[in-house]
Amino acid sequence: MAKIVAGVATSHVPAIGAALDNGKTQEPYWQRVFAGYEESKKWIAEVKPDVCIVVFNDHATAFSVDVVPTFALGCAAEFAPADEGWGPRPVPVVHGHPELAAHIAQSVILDEFDLTVVNNMEVDHGLTVPLSLMFGQPEEWPCKIIPLAVNVVLFPPPTGNRCFNLGAAIRRAVESYPEDLKVVIFGTGGMSHQISGPRAGLINSEFDKAFLDGMSNDPQKIIKIKHVEYMREAGAEGIEMVMWLVMRGALDEHVRERYRFYTVPASNTAVGHLILENPSQMAAE
Ligand code: DHB
Ligand code: FE
Repeated sequence: MAKIVAGVATSHVPAIGAALDNGKTQEPYWQRVFAGYEESKKWIAEVKPDVCIVVFNDHATAFSVDVVPTFALGCAAEFAPADEGWGPRPVPVVHGHPELAAHIAQSVILDEFDLTVVNNMEVDHGLTVPLSLMFGQPEEWPCKIIPLAVNVVLFPPPTGNRCFNLGAAIRRAVESYPEDLKVVIFGTGGMSHQISGPRAGLINSEFDKAFLDGMSNDPQKIIKIKHVEYMREAGAEGIEMVMWLVMRGALDEHVRERYRFYTVPASNTAVGHLILENPSQMAAE
């Protein structure tokens, strides 16, 4: 059987990708950010997942405002890095897992979560920056990746509670897949940030730290946070944090916090990062 052994949460700031791609990781501003992921790179190299499900948002790159799916599952064999205005990032093509993705689509849709199936999609910084942070700069990504795009760009995005319940449905789907596969699920985006308007640059470390605590110890509390509260407390783009709740819903009620990192700022964003191990599934190793 396939199993979800752990969840990874991380911000996906595009400037982090640019710093890596342009050889700036040793500059003090960026060194502080990348140092926070050294432990994580070792951890994931030891865990060696077969598949990572990466919950991310497309920033009007693959999906223009013409069509905005709420939840879109990448079922293709490959996903190329998107050109976001400066040419595609020099990172490997993402290889999908069409069989597991099709199984997840079937299981989750019959479980009454109406996903959009995507058979052709380029992936932007929302997906590639978390991969770079966790895997560094390899020739090929070391595992298969299933992208799950969540709309947090155009109102109304899904609620945190809906995202959490979708995560639980994804877990049921993975655990009913017959092949032995080790799966890690990523929730990306956040933490507090606002990119435009009069409050551009807003960061709220108190809110972010309480959210990190909630992810570890009290998800039932943070799934109740309303859109207006994310907006008020964490800035217009703080809503990206609902994607972390998809990841959290795919884990046990009680998780083991393996690693936490928080630094301010990177570009306009508070960078937050968690590794949560799924005790029941790690034990089954
Ligand atoms: C920034 C952060 C994001 O999550 C994003 O999608 C774009 C920009 C930033 O901090 O600049
Ligand atoms: Fe973003």
